[in-house]
Amino acid sequence: MRATSEQLISFATRAPSGHNTQPWQFSVDQDTIRIYPDLSRRLPVVDPDDHALFISLGCALENLLVAAARQGLSASIDYFPSDEPEECLRVRLSEGTNQSAEALFRAIPDRQSNRGIYDGRAITDADLARLVEANACESVSVRSFRVGHPDIEPIIGFVREGNIAQFNDPAFVAELVSWIRFSRREISEGSDGLTAAALGFPSIPRWLGRWIMTTLVKPKGEAARQEKAIRSSSVLLLFVARENDKRHWVDVGRSFERIALTATSMGIAQAHVNMPCEVEPIRRRLAAHLGLDAGEQPLLLIRLGFANKRPPPSPRRPVDQVVRDA
Ligand SMILES: Cc1cc2nc3c(=O)[nH]c(=O)nc-3n(C[C@H](O)[C@H](O)[C@H](O)COP(=O)(O)O)c2cc1C
Repeated sequence: MRATSEQLISFATRAPSGHNTQPWQFSVDQDTIRIYPDLSRRLPVVDPDDHALFISLGCALENLLVAAARQGLSASIDYFPSDEPEECLRVRLSEGTNQSAEALFRAIPDRQSNRGIYDGRAITDADLARLVEANACESVSVRSFRVGHPDIEPIIGFVREGNIAQFNDPAFVAELVSWIRFSRREISEGSDGLTAAALGFPSIPRWLGRWIMTTLVKPKGEAARQEKAIRSSSVLLLFVARENDKRHWVDVGRSFERIALTATSMGIAQAHVNMPCEVEPIRRRLAAHLGLDAGEQPLLLIRLGFANKRPPPSPRRPVDQVVRDA
């Protein structure tokens, strides 16, 4: 099982995570894989309550389950079991007849965040329905907003406000800069963070990158850039958790990852436009605008569409750096 477990963990680590922090650790014990939050990789400014960290864990869990099913393994999952000395997600694997769709498995290494401008083509109604139905978590609902439909305009307004609030906050910019890998050396030596290429600019020395981010990048300019990117897309998808706790955050990650893998298998690109979910007062206004029930949280916003170009893949830490010794 050990070799299999390492393969499964390698697929889990292809999951997306906020700023590519990869805030996870794994342990393997016979037929059980545990996924632990790595709190040394928190993002205290953009994610003070760690909800994005637990969403990222959910993405890793979903990749692991898709890869396990592909190997014919059944999985039983315990969320944060109380008989564990440490907070974790526990996955018990057994031989089974489980077979995941091959297409989802194949999409794991191909899925990526594509922050470019898309070509404006529309996703058909049938394909949009297929994407929304890929959400397998009852505790998460997924709402869609089509570019060109009047309903999307207030959502774009919330994205704009969130973007401006974040780029007006020096602590947000400093945290972001600390996770950007600007130079060729940082990129070749590193295995985490946001590479210059993934963000769509050439590699440059760190001092220059920091100067550009702190003086040249203006909140309104950044907001206009994101708005253009949204308008080049076809659809926004908003992930709403029924309640605001760790278990639901993990489920948002599982739901998002399954839809992202489905989109990838259909040749559809995706990128996050999360700003209104990240700035708490704006998130509350977004929830009120949507008429959500008390407790329901809009936690993740992505855009989907068709891209002509793919950025190079983002780096990942190798498996031996994320697996704890037995
Ligand atoms: C919970 C979560 C929040 C994210 N928020 C943003 C975001 O606000 N802006 C953005 O450009 N990317 C965001 N991302 C995408 C990550 O930066 C991306 O997954 C990571 O850099 C790895 O790259 P990859 O998705 O291409 O593998 C988010 C991802 C997750 C899982």
